[in-house]
Amino acid sequence: MFDARYSIRSHVAGALRASDVGERVTLAGWVHRRRDHGGLVFVDLRDRSGLVQCVFDPAESVAAFAVAEAVRPEWVVRVSGTVRKRPPGTENPALATGEVEVLVAEAEVLNKSETPPFEVDTAIATDETLRLKHRYIDMRRPEVLEALVLRDRITQRFRKALEHRGFIEVETPMLGRSTPEGARDFIVPSRLNPGEFYALPQSPQLYKQLLMVGGIERYYQIARCFRDEDLRADRQPEFTQVDIEMSFVTQDDLLQMMEEVMHEVVREAGVDLPLPLPRLTYAEAMDRFGSDRPDTRFGMELHDLSDVFAGSAFKVFASALEAGGAVKAIAAPGAGDWSRGRIDALQPVAQEAGAKGLAWIAFTSEGEVRSPIAKFLSEQEMAALRERLGVAPGDLVLFAADERMAANEVLGTLRTHLAGELGLVKGGFSCLWVVDFPLFKWDTEEDKWSANHHPFTRPFDEHLDRIESDPASVLSYSYDLVMNGVEVGGGTLRIHDPELQRRVLAVLGIGEEDAREQFGFLLDALAYGAPPHGGIALGLDRLVMLLAGKHSIRDVIAFPKTSSGACPLTGAPAPVSARQLREVHLRTE
Ligand code: AMO
Ligand code: AMP
Repeated sequence: MFDARYSIRSHVAGALRASDVGERVTLAGWVHRRRDHGGLVFVDLRDRSGLVQCVFDPAESVAAFAVAEAVRPEWVVRVSGTVRKRPPGTENPALATGEVEVLVAEAEVLNKSETPPFEVDTAIATDETLRLKHRYIDMRRPEVLEALVLRDRITQRFRKALEHRGFIEVETPMLGRSTPEGARDFIVPSRLNPGEFYALPQSPQLYKQLLMVGGIERYYQIARCFRDEDLRADRQPEFTQVDIEMSFVTQDDLLQMMEEVMHEVVREAGVDLPLPLPRLTYAEAMDRFGSDRPDTRFGMELHDLSDVFAGSAFKVFASALEAGGAVKAIAAPGAGDWSRGRIDALQPVAQEAGAKGLAWIAFTSEGEVRSPIAKFLSEQEMAALRERLGVAPGDLVLFAADERMAANEVLGTLRTHLAGELGLVKGGFSCLWVVDFPLFKWDTEEDKWSANHHPFTRPFDEHLDRIESDPASVLSYSYDLVMNGVEVGGGTLRIHDPELQRRVLAVLGIGEEDAREQFGFLLDALAYGAPPHGGIALGLDRLVMLLAGKHSIRDVIAFPKTSSGACPLTGAPAPVSARQLREVHLRTE
């Protein structure tokens, strides 16, 4: 609740209503807008609760009128006066306080303001860097305030829902050792230990596992995480996780708990989440949507046409299949009438996703077929693909012929891209689990196996005997929570057996010595009675972004960084003095 208690005012501006008419009130806030009507001055007074119109009439108070003549936008004032009904015809139904105004008897300037670099009202049209440089002005916009309020409510709801289920919040260190989430660490030199460094946590992963060994059983933390990666709209170098870990659970226990918590949390934003949430295996998600974070608010699913084109006269398809690959396709409704140029503009999108080419067939609304490849296809092939894809007039069919996963990824990228261009997302909310990720993935750059999630992820019990012989086929107890095509959270059951942990590390090319060096403390802990445990971390920034209907997590962070990792407001990062460097035993070139 936001009201006038504990303050130098009697009321908050945005709460005044017709029922307050006749009240004597004292308000304090910012001059939002000032209109001089010759003889009368109107000031919209703004505070966190909203706006109210204040009228300054020299007949009421000459002194107050003089103040009103002097004030400018964003000055801070305190006024006292009487609430009255606005004269008929001057009500403003767009404003919550639009039926009333305050006739001011006393006014006082609490502070002046420089002319702001942009108007609060029109800030959104301003360059983002300028807005972030003056975030304290930008923040006076209701959109920013609302996002921060929503973020707070969501955070509180998580706390309540988790406390209610026996979780306790435990803080874990910021100055620690490198954690293996796969990004680059931010490192902090140690003054007391020359040449040694702390790493800021990429997540509290190892600590939360240690808490389970310590018998905490149900832990959560609203945890700040730090990752030195290239930034995007949904990535910041520091971000917040709702971090959770539980002991003595199956994957089903954990998912059920999380669904119930999510149901309660998103209701705070007016979203009703029907439970249980759908679950897709990773294999199915890739096969049907070409993505491990499928957006199911629209169709355009991937279809496998490999059987249709086996032995095709069209060499591109036939040779991909001969090489053991697949031919897959999607039908984009409405794009069948696109011009050649517009269809060709999809080529770079596909190539960016790894496509070797992009074969297409456009079925126009008039029943025409346009295509550079249709002439190579037999009548049976055309008939089969029409049937398989349920082709309707106006559809554009796009093909990917490649290794199966590569083809999936190309079409998955096109599917999301086209949904945007065709405006296929018509509201609604898609929320689901993607489960059963492979334990390992092949890192082509480093030419070795790497962990799909992180190295502490537990393999399926029934796949334990092929960890060394067939790593690619080993699945894991793992799950991502996906909302509207965004990965909002992810977690796994963990390995609690030190011997199994060593085997998995060995496949990752982390030998006994390296393992001891990097996380010997975890291996030791696992050897002292570690309970079976698992957990999850939700990206709070991403969740609030979705619930607030924003497209960037910067919009739901009070002081975000730009894409170069800089803070335009404080100027961080910045050089430090030679003395500071000497103290931490560093030299810059
Ligand atoms: P993971 O690395 O998947 O898992 O992170 C969990 C969630 O955090 C969010 N996230 C980010 N949000 C904003 N900016 C970033 N740079 C960023 N990176 C990640 C995502 C993601 O789903 N320790 C494991 C969790 C576990 O196994 O319990 C972990 O950190 O929404
Ligand atoms: P080409 O024989 O390379 O001229 O290709 C003929 C058509 O097939 C062109 O429209 C290409 O864009 C397309 N094409 C080529 N390779 C692939 C592929 N791997 N998957 C889908 N389409 C392809």
